[in-house]
Amino acid sequence: MKVLVTKRVFPEAVEYLRSKFEVDYVSTDEGLTPQELAQRVKGVQGIVSQLTDKFDATVIGRLEGVKVLANVAVGYDNIDVPAATAKGIAVTNTPDVLTETTADFAWALLMSAARRVVEGHAFVHSGQWKRWTIDLLAGQDIFGKTLGIFGLGRIGQAVARRGRGFGMTILYNDAQRAPESIEQELGARFVDKDTLLRESDYVSLHVPLTEGTRKLIGTPELNLMKPTAILINTARGPVVDEAAVAEALKARRIAAAGLDVFEKEPSVHPLLLELTNVVLAPHIASASVDTRRRMSTMAAENCAAALEGRRPANLLNPAVWA
Ligand code: GLV
Repeated sequence: MKVLVTKRVFPEAVEYLRSKFEVDYVSTDEGLTPQELAQRVKGVQGIVSQLTDKFDATVIGRLEGVKVLANVAVGYDNIDVPAATAKGIAVTNTPDVLTETTADFAWALLMSAARRVVEGHAFVHSGQWKRWTIDLLAGQDIFGKTLGIFGLGRIGQAVARRGRGFGMTILYNDAQRAPESIEQELGARFVDKDTLLRESDYVSLHVPLTEGTRKLIGTPELNLMKPTAILINTARGPVVDEAAVAEALKARRIAAAGLDVFEKEPSVHPLLLELTNVVLAPHIASASVDTRRRMSTMAAENCAAALEGRRPANLLNPAVWA
């Protein structure tokens, strides 16, 4: 059997796949254009894909003989899962291994934006630091403030747990209310969307990108937030209206933002690049060496399991396994 790895991954994943299958490894960081992808998938049974590969209904409709699409990411908005299910293709992702790493990074953005760490670095680095002054780069407090979380799944919970250590009041909103035991453990209170926006000092996004969460945060939502509030996005770019966030930051309708994901990566709204009250990162929230290595090997294991007739550990469409 043959596996296509669409883009560079950690070498352990490729070695593992090569011990079992013939492997067509695209070892570049550019990966494949949609046209190249359409060619390379011919004659393969397994695909190890990344979030930059788009498997929409048209691409999936053209796949022949493919049994598994193993995405090296927890998010899978790049794959039309119902279309894959209709073709009997198993789809897998890489949950759990990146939960704590991603929560750490959401907090890195939160703390950097609140305490103006990046501005401070630029200030020192450019030689502007001439004297200590009473309000030099004064930011927002974190300890004891209110943290509002959209999406109390694995990562949202890990972010909330850290918030407990900072003595924060935790609010959350989700399509589904969390079990009482989770709410109690985290001290998290379920509130409606508007209450979360109005009461939170920090709003952190941890929802998957779906039609229901697209532009979850736009101008009306930003207008409800406190002028001192800080928005953190480590979920997916299209969950916020990027132009609206840029305008709100410019007009200081919110104080700051920490953004790891963007609507049209690697493009960033030009206004965001001009502002000092936003911390920008290139979609690296899960990027610790250990976690990215584990995501690579996990996708390879999911792919191998499906090809060897074993149910993959992280199967997203169990209907194909029935
Ligand atoms: C990264 O964004 C992921 O979904 O794993």
